Amino acid sequence: MTRRPLISGNWKMNNNHYEAIQSVQKLHYLLPKETLEEVDVSIHPPFTDLRSVQTVIEVDEMEFALGAQHCHWEDSGAFTGEVSPAFLEKLNVAYVVAGHSERRELFGETDEMVNRKIVAIQNHQMVPIMCVGETLDEREAGNTETKVLGQVVAGLDGRSNEQIASLVIAYEPIWAIGTGKTATAEDAQTVCAAIRGKVAEIADSATAEAVRIQYGGSVKAANATELMGQPDVDGALVGGASLDPDEFARLIQFSTP
Ligand code: 13P
Repeated sequence: MTRRPLISGNWKMNNNHYEAIQSVQKLHYLLPKETLEEVDVSIHPPFTDLRSVQTVIEVDEMEFALGAQHCHWEDSGAFTGEVSPAFLEKLNVAYVVAGHSERRELFGETDEMVNRKIVAIQNHQMVPIMCVGETLDEREAGNTETKVLGQVVAGLDGRSNEQIASLVIAYEPIWAIGTGKTATAEDAQTVCAAIRGKVAEIADSATAEAVRIQYGGSVKAANATELMGQPDVDGALVGGASLDPDEFARLIQFSTP
């Protein structure tokens, strides 16, 4: 099976809603139509930008999917500052990142919380992008696969094969995020293949063949072709390089099959 690549721009806490509109318009202007026929592109702006970006995508009929960076697992209630997956669905959000390492490390998200979010995101007909990854210490101690595969198993707990097949897993080694250090293409391939192997074990081989696995961590135009050329790497979750439309447009074009 050939899996359609997914390139996601995670803007993190950058770009206000005016800047967001300009950035999305510029990115769209820079990308040839043919590229967008071959690759899915999702844009994950901060919550305060979502309505503006949704409007510009829909009014200008851009082939971009709207993404969110996070959500709560409940639809409503006394959760000050949180955002409901039901509200994201109403904004036509297609993809929601769950369990980004910054949320896990800075805001105390546990595997159990990530699992509850995945259930909630899928209950609202959106696609979770579940992030997994090891710290530098874990890597140096030889524990990369124990950590990453443990997060995969915990995050997917209770999901059916069909539900697993339709979601996205992003392998983001924490030591490579925002540091300029990228896993080698071979390392990215090894861990992504191990993730696919684990999915085959907890579901079945057809599910493992279908699930899309992204690599993230200092992906840029200059390394996109090599990373995306790996058989088990189906796309990229991009932070810093997605903030510059020129760079992100090149990266997307270099990621096409
Ligand atoms: P950078 O591309 O800036 O390393 O960020 C990766 C990331 O965390 C995307 O979610």
